[in-house]
Amino acid sequence: MKIEAIRTDFPILNTGVIYLDSAATSLTPEPVLDAVLDYYRDYNANVGRGVYRLARMASQRYEAARSKVAEGIGAKTQELIFTKNTTEAINIVASGMGLKKGDKVITSVWEHHSNLLPWIRAKNELGMDLVVVKPSTESSEAKLEASDFDAVIDKKTKLVAITHVSNALGSLMPVEEIASICEDNNALLLLDAAQSVPHMRINVKALGCDFLAFSGHKMLGPTGIGGLYIKAEHMAGTEPLTVGGGTVEDASFVDYQLKSGYEEFESGTPNIAGAIGLSAAVAYLEEIGLDKVKSWEAKLAKRLIEGLQDIPGIKLYGYDSSDAFRIGVVSFNLEGRTPNEVALLLDKEASIAVRSGHHCCIPLMDYLGPGAEGTVRASVYLYNTEEEVERFLAVLARISKGG
Ligand code: ALA
Repeated sequence: MKIEAIRTDFPILNTGVIYLDSAATSLTPEPVLDAVLDYYRDYNANVGRGVYRLARMASQRYEAARSKVAEGIGAKTQELIFTKNTTEAINIVASGMGLKKGDKVITSVWEHHSNLLPWIRAKNELGMDLVVVKPSTESSEAKLEASDFDAVIDKKTKLVAITHVSNALGSLMPVEEIASICEDNNALLLLDAAQSVPHMRINVKALGCDFLAFSGHKMLGPTGIGGLYIKAEHMAGTEPLTVGGGTVEDASFVDYQLKSGYEEFESGTPNIAGAIGLSAAVAYLEEIGLDKVKSWEAKLAKRLIEGLQDIPGIKLYGYDSSDAFRIGVVSFNLEGRTPNEVALLLDKEASIAVRSGHHCCIPLMDYLGPGAEGTVRASVYLYNTEEEVERFLAVLARISKGG
């Protein structure tokens, strides 16, 4: 990859920051910024409503963005709903798929609060059963195997809702194997793909999932826009989270009839600029090639792990040496320092940005031991260099010696 050329597309890098927090939110390249500004400057109008030229243009670009983003994950245009983010996408499924008492939903110990709280709420309100799959052996690797899921997925299981990649640990879920266990038991599969769609080629049909949720801001797009893939056959059986303008076929003072398909889900004025910006981000990633992005990040992650293992007092979480591939997210703690102290020192000494804390995974942090204080997490993306990784490791080594 031509990293230096790529880096010139990201104006914020001129500040000198060493940005190792892309798992929280990614940086935004010029073509995405241009796409957002072009909408506001050149064809700012609402979508799906007006008949005048600007409105038609905005609608056409908004729907073209849907096609582009859908195509990017191997879905049909009609199978993609624009949402605010991954959290909203998962909430749509939890509240809208018709769960009831007697149903069983399975999730895992790796989950972000966004893929845990909606199911806890659904359990409390609707009375279905919720099972949280834990690794068969307790260790800081917290490795989950398909067999851990096989032991609990049964004919009562309505849905398995799991992350594709752990945001806190960077560990990869064996989703294809889990999908086939789901199929054997007639259970649906929802993937929280917030940490996978930005970093690898995703095809919802090949993965065999029924729902897939992701966020634009983690994949070079703007904040406030995300997506939910709903397999065509489940569209009609999923209720929207909100009702209102823009989704109505007919209405009276006592009743209403919603449009069918994806059009019933986006009530109110949607994030038009966000959707257009997200499609520009997809185009940008495709131009570079997601396979190249994936292997570049794996290379940086390998060096990060090796370097961290050489620093006395570092404890890694979620790292398994037998894994063939590792995403660019690494979680660790330094003996004698809190995660926030480490993050503040990295920032103060070398403008290095990492996330510290529980990573919106308090139950996982409790399970692993650090509790809500959490870990330090370094995460890389296509714009990070080997030099940045070396600088991070050198500064951290100095901090570990009290320097
Ligand atoms: N989910 C984001 C993270 O992992 C915010 O940091």
